[in-house]
Amino acid sequence: MSTPILMQANQVSRLFVKRPDYAERLAGLLGAKVASHTVHAVDRVDLTIHQGEVVGLVGESGCGKSTLGRVLAGILPASSGTIQTPAGELASLAGQAAHAQRMATQMIFQDPMSSLNPRKRVRDIIGEAPLAHGIVARRDCEDYVVEVMRRVGLDPDFRNRFPHQFSGGQRQRVGIGRALAVKPKFLICDESIAALDVSIQAQILNLFMDLRHDLGLTYLFISHDLGVVQRISDRTVIMYLGRIVESGPTAEVFKAPRHPYTQALLDEVPRLSNRKRRFHAIKGEIPSPLNPPAGCHFHPRCPHAMDRCKTEQPLLRDLGAGQQAACHLLDNAPRSANP
Ligand SMILES: Nc1ncnc2c1ncn2[C@@H]1O[C@H](COP(=O)(O)OP(=O)(O)OP(=O)(O)O)[C@@H](O)[C@H]1O
Ligand code: SF4
Ligand SMILES: [Mg+2]
Repeated sequence: MSTPILMQANQVSRLFVKRPDYAERLAGLLGAKVASHTVHAVDRVDLTIHQGEVVGLVGESGCGKSTLGRVLAGILPASSGTIQTPAGELASLAGQAAHAQRMATQMIFQDPMSSLNPRKRVRDIIGEAPLAHGIVARRDCEDYVVEVMRRVGLDPDFRNRFPHQFSGGQRQRVGIGRALAVKPKFLICDESIAALDVSIQAQILNLFMDLRHDLGLTYLFISHDLGVVQRISDRTVIMYLGRIVESGPTAEVFKAPRHPYTQALLDEVPRLSNRKRRFHAIKGEIPSPLNPPAGCHFHPRCPHAMDRCKTEQPLLRDLGAGQQAACHLLDNAPRSANP
C-alpha cells in the first residue's frame, strides 16, 4: 500500500489486572492462596494502518479486538509499546495536538442505544461536540447538523427527536453522524452492524463505503462476520488471545490462509454462503486469557502442534505480498514473489 501511514502500533500491550472478588478474598482470609490475575488483552501487537485503507480485524470473543480498538482510539492507554500518528507518538501528544488526534479517531460501537444519551435530542447529539470544539460557530450549528444528517441518510426534519424515537438502523446513523461531525480521518467500527437486521446491515455498510469514498476515511473494521470483512476490507488481521497471528491482503488471507488458526476459522464454514461465514466453533475451548498456554497460544487446538510450539512463541514472519503469519511451520517458508 503506497499511501502514507495513518497509525502505527509498535509492540503495543494492554493488561488488565483482575483483583480477587469477594469470595476469593474470603477464601484468602481463611488461609487459601489467592492471587490477582493479569489478562494480557493485547499482547505486543505491531499494526500499521495506511491512509484510506479498510482493515478488518477478526478473532474469537475475548481475543482483544475491542481493547486494541480502544487503545488505538486513545480511549484506553496502552500498558506498553508506542503508537505513532502523523502528529507524533500518541501518549506523548499534549494540548492542541492531543485534542486534534482525539477528534481524528472516532469509534462507532455496536449498540447505539447505549452509546447515545437518551435524554438528548439528535440535534444536540450531533451538534454538541463540533460546537464545543470550535469546528462550527453557534449561529451555523443548525445548518451543520442538517448537513451531517443528510450526509448519513437521516431526514433533518427529525432533528428534534430523541434516540428512542428512531429505528435501530437510524440510531446507528445518528451514532455515525455524531462521529462524523468532528471531522475524523479514522473510524474504528467495533461490531457496528452486528446488532442490526441483515438488510439494514447492508445499508449501513454501504454508508460506510460511501463515506470512505467521499471523505477519504480510513477504517478499522472489527467484526465477527467473515463475509462482511472479506467484502469490505483491503487487509485482514486475525487475532488470537491478544496476539496478531496473521495479516495480509484480504484476497490472499481468504484464498490462502497461512496460519493454522486462520485455516481453521475459514475451514469451519466452507460451503456456506459468504453472508453466513461466521466462525464460532473450531475444535477445543478457547483457553482462558487469564492463563494462556505457553509458547504458541494456539497449540492445544492446533492439528500441527510440535514440541517447540509448547514453549517457544512464534513471531510474525513476513511471507511476501504483504502477508504475515506467526507459526513455526512457516520458519522456512519461501516468500511470495508477488509485490
Ligand atoms: N475493562 C476490563 N477489565 C478487565 N478485563 C477486561 C476489560 N476489558 C476487556 N477485558 C478482558 O480482556 C480480554 C479481551 O477483551 P476484549 O473485549 O478486547 O475482546 P473482544 O475480542 O473485543 O471480544 P468480543 O468479540 O466478545 O467483543 C478479555 O479477556 C476481557 O475479559
Ligand atoms: S506454532 Fe505450532 S501450534 Fe502454533 S499454529 Fe504453528 S504449528 Fe500450530
Ligand atoms: Mg469486542
